[in-house]
Amino acid sequence: MYQVIRNTKYDYIGQSYASLYPNLHKYPATMLPQIGIDILKEFDATKGSLLDPYCGSGSSFTSGLECGLTKMQGFDINPLAALICKVKFTKIPINELIERQQTFRNNVFEFLKNENNIFKLPRPQITNIDFWFSQDVINKLIIIKHFIDEIKNINIRNFF
Ligand SMILES: C[S@@+](CC[C@H](N)C(=O)[O-])C[C@H]1O[C@@H](n2cnc3c(N)ncnc32)[C@H](O)[C@@H]1O
Repeated sequence: MYQVIRNTKYDYIGQSYASLYPNLHKYPATMLPQIGIDILKEFDATKGSLLDPYCGSGSSFTSGLECGLTKMQGFDINPLAALICKVKFTKIPINELIERQQTFRNNVFEFLKNENNIFKLPRPQITNIDFWFSQDVINKLIIIKHFIDEIKNINIRNFF
């Protein structure tokens, strides 16, 4: 037999992920960083390393950072989760990002001026791609991917 004790401290009513930190990308079943912060504080975990073997989009790392931890490692079976974590915790000067975004938009704009340009780009070899996406969407994604691949700085490329 066990007894369930309700601690309203952990309700976090009215709070969301973004009430403390911006969420760069949608990810299912994210933990509120507020929960991690309170738990780490309870354990007085202000130094040492944090390992999250199912790290998802990295809410536990957000909590760790807030509590002063700097050595954090994670794994996730989903490559999107690993990418989100990498991008979220890599510092990029905001002016470089804005500049790169402008270049990106200009490149796409110029590219679209000639409707034959799309035929010069290779089609990705993805099984059943036509089942998931219309031809129009596939073409748009091919163009976006092409210009993302052109970004030399790996941190900025990952961000895009
Ligand atoms: C609820 S999320 C984790 C949330 C995360 N700990 C946080 O603080 O935000 C669960 C994650 O476990 C990952 N996962 C499931 N099976 C796994 C496995 N065998 N190895 C690594 N990650 C796995 C899923 O891809 C998912 O991202």
